[in-house]
Parts: sequence; C-alpha cells; structure tokens
Amino acid sequence: MKTATQANGSIVLQLDRVTKRIGNKTIVNDLSFTMSKGEIVGLLGPNGAGKTTTIRMIVGLISMTEGDIRIRDYSIKDNFEKAIRHVGGIIENPEFYSYMTGMDNLKQFMRMSEGVTEARIKEVTKLVGLELALDKKVKTYSLGMRQRLGIAQALLHNPSILILDEPTNGLDPAGIREMRGYMKEIAEKEGLAILVSSHLLSEMEQMCNRVVVVQEGKLVTVRSIGEEKQSEPQVTLSLQVSDVELTEQTLKGQAGVKLEGTANDRITITLLHEEVPTVVKALSNAGVGIYRMEEQKTTLEDQFMKWTEGNRIA
Ligand SMILES: Nc1ncnc2c1ncn2[C@@H]1O[C@H](COP(=O)(O)OP(=O)(O)OP(=O)(O)O)[C@@H](O)[C@H]1O
Ligand SMILES: [Mg+2]
Repeated sequence: MKTATQANGSIVLQLDRVTKRIGNKTIVNDLSFTMSKGEIVGLLGPNGAGKTTTIRMIVGLISMTEGDIRIRDYSIKDNFEKAIRHVGGIIENPEFYSYMTGMDNLKQFMRMSEGVTEARIKEVTKLVGLELALDKKVKTYSLGMRQRLGIAQALLHNPSILILDEPTNGLDPAGIREMRGYMKEIAEKEGLAILVSSHLLSEMEQMCNRVVVVQEGKLVTVRSIGEEKQSEPQVTLSLQVSDVELTEQTLKGQAGVKLEGTANDRITITLLHEEVPTVVKALSNAGVGIYRMEEQKTTLEDQFMKWTEGNRIA
C-alpha cells in the first residue's frame, strides 16, 4: 500500500485520476495532483468547476466514482480512518456555541477528540493569533476571528494537511491579508500542507506556492507561483508574412501544425518547439517571406480572463 508516498516522503496528499459522477453528470473528471509538506496550494477555478466537490472527496464527506486519494501513506479507500486522521478541514462554516468563549468551544472539541491537550489549544491559538480573544464569547467575534477559531479547531488534532474551501469569502481586504500571514506561518512552523480553494486569481497568487487550475471538473494546468514558467513543449507563434494564403496552404501539409487564425497579414499557429525550424524552412521554400515571428504566451491571467470573460473580480 505504500507506493508513491514512500518514494517521496514529503508528499502528503495525492489525487490519482479522481472522478466523481452524479447521475450522468461528470463533476470531477480524471483529476490528479499532489501536495508536499509545508506547501500552500490553491485550487483555482470558476464557479461550478468542481472545487468543493474535490475537497469533499478529500475530507471523506462524499465518495469518489473512480480513482484514489492518498493522504500520507494511506488510501482513503482502503484505510479511511487512518487517512482521515491526518486531515483538518473546514468546508462549510464551522458551528460554534456563540454564548461560550472561544476557549470553552475549543475545550468542548478537545473532550470529543482523542489526544488533544490544553497545551495544544494554547499552541494553535497562538498560531492563528487568537490568544487575546480566547476569553471572549464567540458571539462577539468578527468573521475573521470566527475563522481563526475554526482553523484553530481544525489544527487541534495535529493534521498533516489543512483544507479550506473559499476561506477568504466574506473577509475584508485587511482580514484577507492577516489570514495570508498566519497561513504562511502555520505552513512553515507546523510543516503543514494547506489546500485552499478560490475563484480569485489575485488572491491565490499572493497566498500560494502553487496553483492547481480546474475548469469543468478537469485539470487545466498546475503552476508554481513566482517562478519562471517552465518551457512548454508547444508554442503558439504569430507570423507576419508576405502571403497569408500561401502560408496557409503550405502549413496544411505540415503534420503537427495547428492553425489558430489569420488577421490581415498575420497568421497564428501552434506547434511543437522542435518543429519550428522545419516549418520556417518549408515556408521559405514555398516562397513565403516572414517579417515577424512572435510567441503568444498564455499566462494564468489570460486563462482567468477567459473564464471571467474579461471581468476581473477582486
Ligand atoms: N450533489 C450534486 N448533484 C448534482 N450536481 C452537483 C452536486 N454537487 C455539485 N454539483 C454540480 O457540480 C458542479 C461543481 O460543483 P462544485 O460545488 O464542486 O463547484 P465549485 O468549483 O465549488 O463552485 P463554486 O466556486 O461556485 O463554489 C456544479 O455544476 C454543481 O451544480
Ligand atoms: Mg465551491
């Protein structure tokens, strides 16, 4: 049972070709990604992309139709109890007793779960910066403070991975910034892997080390934030040419060249990096003059613009 996680000891979560179908609708489609210790990963996608469904499968609230999810060394299919012990999650708003203090709420939770100590309560409330408010009643808490309490509670049993569905929903900009701060600290201090979902690109870029982009239940791309994009095997080039028609005709005979579109004296094509010299030679042999050749890069921002049809929310 110990395969990929043993090969790389730092992997704490592995989704392997996970599919969820409800009725005849495929909500999550063949989704695979991994997360390592100490890493903050964003599950980014537009409304209805399948983020909540994916998270509900990871925390064991719903079953998968196909594939497997491994948490540390355990498959949630074969070893549910052991796997789930390593997960702390907040899916919907956590319920608290509002007339009780934050501390009493956490103690209440401590009594219901094994191995949680008062020392651990102190530790987690410090991590989320809630020490000073612990003796206040929860009904006096702001949304941001309630959320800190929720995260503190999710951390009590010392999970390896913390999962938060749209954690910034409803928070004001200051609240979001604070949250970003303590999340990074928790990931670092506890070596915790944190998975957060959101439909807001700008937020994910600031909070995460990596984003997993999903759309219509499928993986679109996985990108590291703040690092140069790895060179892609495929390139999209915009060519300014002497004769667009002749270019089109010539390219139709070239295997592996996809015509994206034409505009005036420009033509856009997608092809493999290795094929570029061959194509340039073929065009030149056919008598096409090439004046310009520019790479069209699709950034995360471009993809995001497509989802939102140009309207940046955030
Ligand atoms: N129990 C269900 N039965 C049928 N369809 C469902 C069910 N749960 C979710 N869906 C559908 O699956 C799709 C993905 O839903 P999901 O809630 O996972 O998306 P999401 O990415 O979390 O979206 P949002 O950003 O709006 O929270 C949606 O079209 C939703 O209507
Ligand atoms: Mg959702």
